[in-house]
Amino acid sequence: MKNISVIGAGTMGNGIAHVFAQKGFKVTLIDVSSPQLEKALATIAKNLDRQVAKEVITEAQKAETLANISTCNTVAEGVSNADLVVEAATENTTLKLNIFKEIDAYAPAAAILASNTSSISITQIAAVTKRPSQVIGMHFMNPVPVMKLVEIINGYTTDKAVSDSIVELSKQLGKIPSVVNDYPGFIANRILMPMINEAIISLYEGVAGVNEIDTIMKLGMAHPMGPLQLADFIGLDVCLSILRVLHDGLGNPKYAPCPLLINMVTAGRLGVKSGEGFYTYIAGSKELIVSKQFNK
Ligand code: CAA
Repeated sequence: MKNISVIGAGTMGNGIAHVFAQKGFKVTLIDVSSPQLEKALATIAKNLDRQVAKEVITEAQKAETLANISTCNTVAEGVSNADLVVEAATENTTLKLNIFKEIDAYAPAAAILASNTSSISITQIAAVTKRPSQVIGMHFMNPVPVMKLVEIINGYTTDKAVSDSIVELSKQLGKIPSVVNDYPGFIANRILMPMINEAIISLYEGVAGVNEIDTIMKLGMAHPMGPLQLADFIGLDVCLSILRVLHDGLGNPKYAPCPLLINMVTAGRLGVKSGEGFYTYIAGSKELIVSKQFNK
């Protein structure tokens, strides 16, 4: 595989473009919004600068990486010579199904179509294409240049050879792949989201405060971030939508999202991206300030 098309220039899309381009693949980053594409290229350059500063890569390698990335505003043009398409659009089922219909219409017949979805069924996505055996989940973790894991999800119809080739490709990216089957939340979020939800329920029931919950999980379990900080980092709207997929898909009340999480999302408190979640975020500052709402 040489030509990789990445659809969606948000946080995950720019991270995925970054790691492919850094390993020498030709990347086409696709987004309907030109300002979003410009912002993504600036973010990639900034993250490459971190790697230059740490002497992980040289200035020349930074320039080569950036030269491997081109941008495009339409799926039709952007996937026309792809060997692999990685879709990293917003986590919305209808949107993703429409994008996959479009990719399927314009990508070469041999191309593999991957989704970076964190919870939407790969089998359902595959079913709207004419190549269901070539559709697979390739779930990167945020921040993509740092996190080693790629959770690979075999849909009900995914070909073994396709799955094997995505495992090999992930290794070429310097990542560690883990292959799972397509059931709600796969493995990463089936296990992560109930932990985050339980942390929010503990806060909601007054068992402990934000700081206490996160400190216990950080220091007691050696997690780099406590569950409430991690929820803010992922996005509270994303956490809620994944919990709903688990709740609907597995039919078990233990996955019911905490009413506090629902309230926060309804109020537009989405975590880092909105500036306020369990913590308050100030641009340019790394200080963790517990939100006034919870700082009792
Ligand atoms: N690109 C390149 N490098 C980056 C980076 C980026 N976007 N972000 C951070 N880094 C590098 C930094 O340069 C730094 O490098 P060194 O270790 O060489 O110094 C390192 O990563 C650590 O960064 P910072 O010093 O800025 O900050 P930190 O020590 O607080 O670590 C963190 C930040 C890596 C995000 C860490 O807090 C962490 O691992 N958090 C947990 C992340 C996690 O769990 N992610 C998964 C979320 S779930 C998901 O993505 C899937 C889903 O479906 C919801």
